[in-house]
Amino acid sequence: MSDAVDTSPTVPLLRVDNLSVCFETEKGSVDVVRSVSFQVEKGQTFCLVGESGCGKSMTSFALLGLVPEPGKVKADSISLDGRELTGLSEAAMNTVRGRQIGMIFQEPMTALNPVIRVGDQVAEPLIQHLHLSRRDALKKAEKLFAMVGIPAPERRLRDFPHQMSGGMRQRVMIAMALSCRPRLLLADEPTTALDVTIQGQILALLRELSFSQGMGLLLITHDLGVVAETADKVGVMYAGSIVEQAPVNAIFANPLHPYTKGLMRSAPTPTLSPTQRLEAIPGTVPPPGALPEGCPFRPRCNRAHDRCLTEPPLVHLEENGLAREVRCWLAAE
Ligand SMILES: Nc1ncnc2c1ncn2[C@@H]1O[C@H](COP(=O)(O)OP(=O)(O)OP(=O)(O)O)[C@@H](O)[C@H]1O
Ligand code: SF4
Ligand SMILES: [Mg+2]
Repeated sequence: MSDAVDTSPTVPLLRVDNLSVCFETEKGSVDVVRSVSFQVEKGQTFCLVGESGCGKSMTSFALLGLVPEPGKVKADSISLDGRELTGLSEAAMNTVRGRQIGMIFQEPMTALNPVIRVGDQVAEPLIQHLHLSRRDALKKAEKLFAMVGIPAPERRLRDFPHQMSGGMRQRVMIAMALSCRPRLLLADEPTTALDVTIQGQILALLRELSFSQGMGLLLITHDLGVVAETADKVGVMYAGSIVEQAPVNAIFANPLHPYTKGLMRSAPTPTLSPTQRLEAIPGTVPPPGALPEGCPFRPRCNRAHDRCLTEPPLVHLEENGLAREVRCWLAAE
C-alpha cells in the first residue's frame, strides 16, 4: 500500500486495474469478478450494465471494501483521485465510504432506518464525518432536501420513512449520499423500484448533480434504456468480466461484441417501435463455477470459432486504444 497521491490533472477520478473477486466453495475457488478494469472521469457517468448475476454489485462492493466474507478481493490498483485504496485499513476505508464515495442502493426502504426521522438520518453523517452540531447538520439537511427536489423540505425533515413515497425516499437517500460532497457517487440500480416517470426524474437529477459538482457517477443497471439516458461511457459485463467498453454513442451505434449486439437486439430502446418483436439471447449465463473453457460467451455465441473453444479472449483496443475495448477474438482478428 502507498499513501502517495498523484494529483496531476490527467489522473482519472476512479481507476480500477485488474480487479477480481473470488469465493472459496466446496467445489474449489469461484471467480465472480474477473480482471475488471475501467475508469470514471470527473463530472461523467460510467454505466456498468449486464444480466443478473454477472458481478455488477460485487464489483461495487469490492471498490467500497464491502465484499462479504469469505470473498477475497485482488486488484493491481484501485485509486480515487490518485490515492491508492487497496490495502487501506478498515478505519480508513470507513472514512472513504461516506466522505469520498457516496452510495445509493436499490431499495431505499431497507437502507433507511424506519424508526428515525429522515432529517436525523441525513444529519448523521454530517455530525460524524464533518463534526457539525446537530442544529447545523439539520440546516444542511434541509438545504440538501431542497437540492434534490423534496418539496417543503423543512417539514419533510420530520417525516419517518413510511410517510414518504418511494420516489421521495430515494431522494432522501441521494441527499444522504451527497451530504459530505463525495468525489464519486456509486448508485446500484437506484431507480429499479420506482415507476418510470419518477425514474426519469431521479436519473436526470443524478446526472445534473454529477455535472454541476464535478462528481463522478458509477451507475449500475441492467436496463439499457437507463444507460442510453444517462451514460457517458458504458462497460458491458458478462459472467464476471467487462466484455466491451466504449462511449455510449459508439456502443449503441456500433456494438462490437456478440453479447453486446445480442443485448441491443433484446432491449426495448426509444427507437424501437412497439410492433417490433424483441429478440432474447438464446441460452442462459453459466454460473460462475461452471464457465466453459475458452470464451465464457461461447455456448451462446453465433460467431464462435475454433479459437474460442480453448483460448479466453484478450482485451482488444479499438480506435488507437483510446475509446473502445472488446474482449472477443473477432475484434482482434
Ligand atoms: N456471498 C456470496 N458467496 C458466493 N457467491 C456469491 C455471493 N454473493 C454473490 N455471489 C455470486 O456472485 C455473482 C455476482 O453477483 P452480483 O450480486 O454481483 O450480481 P449482479 O450483476 O449485481 O446481479 P443483479 O443484477 O441480480 O443485482 C453471482 O453469481 C452470485 O451468485
Ligand atoms: S471470442 Fe468467440 S465465442 Fe467469444 S464472443 Fe468472440 S466470437 Fe463469440
Ligand atoms: Mg446487483
